[in-house]
Amino acid sequence: MTCALEHFTATVAAQLMRREDWNAQMNDPVMRKMWLWHAIEESEHKSVCYDTYQKLYKDYPTRASAMVIAWSILAVVLADQQVRLMAKDGQLFNGKSWLKGMWSLFGYKGFISQQALPLLDYFRPGFHPEDHYSDDLEQKYKELLKFEG
Ligand SMILES: [Fe+2]
Repeated sequence: MTCALEHFTATVAAQLMRREDWNAQMNDPVMRKMWLWHAIEESEHKSVCYDTYQKLYKDYPTRASAMVIAWSILAVVLADQQVRLMAKDGQLFNGKSWLKGMWSLFGYKGFISQQALPLLDYFRPGFHPEDHYSDDLEQKYKELLKFEG
């Protein structure tokens, strides 16, 4: 399940770095730098758990079924958190606000819908996290944020 979640975080991380229209929405420069650092970090170690799993087990049915379980749990947790955030902002019963948010995630060029294929690629038997090249994005943001290494 960690392999599955690492693929999710690495894919989201690459998307966050790729979509400047999204990461530019973070108005607080400290939080923006922290999230982009985290995106670089998640992207850099995206293969560690997967390589360990492959070395130890190399069991495709377990890897694929763990993905289904992990993403199911993640979907419930994220939905719960979204409801809490909407309630905190007084938007829980604002249908227009929900539609706008759902469209930005799942609509045309949505943050999640644009990741559907890279996310589903995990189910390919020969999948490897490094198949999703992101070194250029990592380097770009290290330079932009003036990180070393
Ligand atoms: Fe990670």
